[in-house]
Amino acid sequence: MTLKPEIKTSLPGPKAQELLKKDEEFISPSYTRSYPAVIERGEGVWVYDVDGNRFLDMAAGIAVLTTGHCHPEIVKAVQEQAAKLIHMSGTDFYYPYQIELAEKLAEIAPGAKNKRVFFANSGTEANEAALKLARFKTRRPYFIAFLGAFHGRTFGSMSISASKAIHRRYFAPLVPQIFHIPYPNPYRPFLGVAPEKLTDAIIDYLENYIFTTIAPPEEVAAFVFEPIQGEGGYIVPPADFFPKLKQIAEKYDILLIDDEVQTGMGRTGRMFAIEYFGIIPDIVTVAKGIASGFPLGAAIARKSLMDWESGTHASTFGGNPVSCVAALKTIELLEKGLVENAREVGTYLKAELTKLMDEFEFIGDVRGLGLMVGVEIVKDRTSKKPDPSLRNKIVDNAFYKGLILLGAGPNTVRWCPALTVTKEEINVALEIFREVLKNL
Ligand SMILES: Cc1ncc(COP(=O)(O)O)c(C=O)c1O
Repeated sequence: MTLKPEIKTSLPGPKAQELLKKDEEFISPSYTRSYPAVIERGEGVWVYDVDGNRFLDMAAGIAVLTTGHCHPEIVKAVQEQAAKLIHMSGTDFYYPYQIELAEKLAEIAPGAKNKRVFFANSGTEANEAALKLARFKTRRPYFIAFLGAFHGRTFGSMSISASKAIHRRYFAPLVPQIFHIPYPNPYRPFLGVAPEKLTDAIIDYLENYIFTTIAPPEEVAAFVFEPIQGEGGYIVPPADFFPKLKQIAEKYDILLIDDEVQTGMGRTGRMFAIEYFGIIPDIVTVAKGIASGFPLGAAIARKSLMDWESGTHASTFGGNPVSCVAALKTIELLEKGLVENAREVGTYLKAELTKLMDEFEFIGDVRGLGLMVGVEIVKDRTSKKPDPSLRNKIVDNAFYKGLILLGAGPNTVRWCPALTVTKEEINVALEIFREVLKNL
């Protein structure tokens, strides 16, 4: 029988309240928590707070827990590895787990296997590595990124990001020579362009405005993009966009950096989301879901591109043995069926959420691929005016009913559960979600 959430105390419960007081005193207030979830343990898609309340988790630690909370095979692999070797540092030493994982990533990332991997600890670091490699190899200063993008919070990644002003406010000067162009958002096309003309309009803007005025193409090192914008609101671009961007890239010898930090590792129903668009990028970055919750990031590029000399880039912790073993086991489980499950259950989830549009006028759009589904909340469908406060209320109210969801972008509810999730568990979540929407 499928479990259901169980809320036994007021929220936050007494133990959670005590911890929240201390959190306020000792933890940086820069984080973005909205509701008071103080989680003690997890199993699959279920988490339990410090007061024993049970929640159904459709956020998976922000799209990280590919195999769910504490998957027994991940736990076993990690425990065994921790007893053997925890750290050595790939910067100065060799160890088998890092080499094995690099070989596996070279094999599964888009394109031929002759690739190399740089290991980091997080998404932002993986992207910093990609930016540095692109500049180093091309000797070109410029990058072109997209409005709405999120690539991380260190200076390079922050500078290519453009999803929320608060991420940048008072942190300038940022890394220079970075320009942003509109991302093809079919639900909200820029400057009122017809959705079917979106790709061509953006390509035209790039070639005939950006290249001719502020970023000479022969000085552009790379385009940096998310194949589906994550933090920007789970936006899926038209199918012809990346193939056309690739044509431009080839024309001017510009590299393509594909940030798969959120979309990667099976989440969209393919191992990498860019596979849906049929192009092979030059550099792929991954993090989040790669190691089922252990800190790991990677930048993957063909061998002839990743041939920078010793000393150019490194990381003390990047690719530590325990994270590498967790990643190898995660990939094994992905290949044994989790990617397929993401596609199948994700298709079901999107279809069921789409049905809710018949009932609720404030759902403007339901979109996504696999288990990366966004529900955009608007004032009404005609004006499409975003309704961030209603979105926040939905996410908060869901928590009090035992359903863990997160926002994405200003007004979208994001669904990014573990790839182990079943249709039965999705049905439990959908039932609560519908109740929440009915009782706003
Ligand atoms: C697409 C994308 N890139 C990069 C990052 C940054 O990853 P991290 O928080 O691990 O630095 C994120 C995080 O949300 C992301 O969604």
